[in-house]
Amino acid sequence: MARYVGAIDQGTTSTRFMVFDREGRVVAAAQKEHRQIYPEPGWVEHDPLEIWERTQEVIREGLGRAGLTGEDLAALGLTNQRETIIVWDRRTGRPYTNALVWQDTRSNAICQELTAEGGPDRFRDRTGLPISTYFSGPKLRWTLEQVPGVRQAAERGEALFGTVDTWLLWWLSGGPEGGVHVTDVTNASRTLLMNHATLDWDPEILAILGIPRAMLPAIRPSSDPDLYGTTRPDGPLAAAVPLAGALGDQQAALVGQAAFAPGDVKNTYGTGCFVVMNTGERRVLSRHGLLTSVAYRMADEPAVFCLEGSIAITGALVQWLRDNLGIIQSSGEVERLARSVEDSGGIYFVPAFSGLFAPHWDSRARGLLIGLTRYVNRGHLARAVLEATAYQTEEVLRAMRQDSGASLAELRVDGGMVANDLLMQFQADLSGIPVIRPQVAETTALGAAYAAGLAVGLWDGRETLQRLWREDRRWQPTWGEAHREEALRGWLRAVERAMGWLEA
Ligand code: G3P
Repeated sequence: MARYVGAIDQGTTSTRFMVFDREGRVVAAAQKEHRQIYPEPGWVEHDPLEIWERTQEVIREGLGRAGLTGEDLAALGLTNQRETIIVWDRRTGRPYTNALVWQDTRSNAICQELTAEGGPDRFRDRTGLPISTYFSGPKLRWTLEQVPGVRQAAERGEALFGTVDTWLLWWLSGGPEGGVHVTDVTNASRTLLMNHATLDWDPEILAILGIPRAMLPAIRPSSDPDLYGTTRPDGPLAAAVPLAGALGDQQAALVGQAAFAPGDVKNTYGTGCFVVMNTGERRVLSRHGLLTSVAYRMADEPAVFCLEGSIAITGALVQWLRDNLGIIQSSGEVERLARSVEDSGGIYFVPAFSGLFAPHWDSRARGLLIGLTRYVNRGHLARAVLEATAYQTEEVLRAMRQDSGASLAELRVDGGMVANDLLMQFQADLSGIPVIRPQVAETTALGAAYAAGLAVGLWDGRETLQRLWREDRRWQPTWGEAHREEALRGWLRAVERAMGWLEA
C-alpha cells in the first residue's frame, strides 16, 4: 500500500504542496506565489488559471524533489483560502472573470441592501454568519449582476460556481472531461448560502440573492474515501489518486492541531489571525461578534461545528512597519527591536487599516496610534505592533468564553508569527492560559492530509492523530488578573476611538 498522503494548500498569497508520512512528518514540500490583482480600491482578485498552473507546478516540483511519484500517495487532501469565488464555463474551463478574493469589498452595496431589508443577522440562524462582503454569496450575486452573460450562462447550466476547493477538485478530476463539481461542507459553510440544519443550499436565501441552484456544486463531507473522485492519470500526479479530503484552511488547521474535543482552540498567526474553537456537535450562535461554521464532517458522521474569530490585520502590521515605514529591514527584526525596551511605553496601535473584523465588524474603523509622548521610540512602536496581535486575539478569546460558556484551558498556535517568542509570551500573559506550539508547524496542510488519510484508512481514527500531535514549546502565563485587566482596558479604550472613524 502507498505509504504517504499528499496535501495541496491553496492560500491567499501562495500555493503549497506537501507530502506527509504516517507519523505526520513532512517528506516533500514546494511552494509558489501568485499575483495579487487590485483593479480598483477595495477590489482584490486572483487569476484562477494561474492558481491552477501554480498548483500543478508545486505538485510536480514537490514530488520530483523527494523522488516520489503519484503512485506513492494513498490519497490527496486539499485545503484552501475560503470564501473566494470563481465562476467558469464547464465546457472549456475558462473563468468568466477573475476570482473575487475574500478580502474584496465590491459587494458592499449588495450587503447594505440586504441589511436594510432584514438586518445584518437575518441569515445568522440558518448560516451562522452575519451579512458581510467577506462571504461568497454577495460576491456571487455581484458577478451575476455585473459580468455580462454570466446569468444567462448559469441559467443554461453552462456556468459553474465554486470556491477554490471546487475549482481545483474539478480540474484535478478531469476538468471539462468529467471533472467533479463538488465542495466540502466547511467551505460551503462560509458562503452565506448553506443551511446548517440540512447541510445543503438554502432555497430561500438563493431566491433572495437571485442565485440559480444549477450553478452550485454538491456539498460533500470533509473526509470521505471516494466522494471527490480520483485525480486524472494525465494530470500533475500522473496517477489515479483518491481525492479523499477537503477543508477550508482555518478548519484544516484545527484538524492539523488535533483539536477534536469541544473547547479546544487554535490560533493561526499569519497576515491576519484566525482563532477557531471546536464546539462539537453543538452549534453555538454568537452574540459577541463571532462566526459559526462547520469545523469538519468525517464521512457519514454528524457535522462538528466551530466558533471563529477572524482578525484582518496582525502579521500584516509587521509588514507595514517594514514596507511603509522602513523601521525594520525584515519581519524577523521586529522582535529584536521590541526587546530593546521594557514595554510599549504606554502606546497602543489599533491596526484597523480596512475596518475591524471580529469581534467588532466595523467597516468604518480606521487605524490609530495613541498614547504618544516624547519618550516613545522605535522600540516602543515595534512592541505595540506585536502587542496589537495579542490584544486582538484576546478580545476574540473573551468573546468565545462568553458565547460558549467554556473556560479555555490552553491555546494551540501555528502560523508564521509563532516563531516570535516575545509575542507568544505576551499572549500567554495577557490571556492567562498556556500557549502551545506543536512540532509540526504546517498544521493547515497536515489537516488536509489527515482528512484524506483517515478516509482511506492510513490512520485508523482521531485518537491516533491526537497521539501524533507533539508539543514543541509552551509559554506559561505570569501575570495576575489585575495586570491582565488593566492592560486590556487600555487597548479597549484605544479601539473605541478607532471605531466609526469614517463618516457614514
Ligand atoms: O477566510 C480567509 C482565510 O481562509 C484565508 O486564509 O491563510 O489563505 O490567508 P489564508
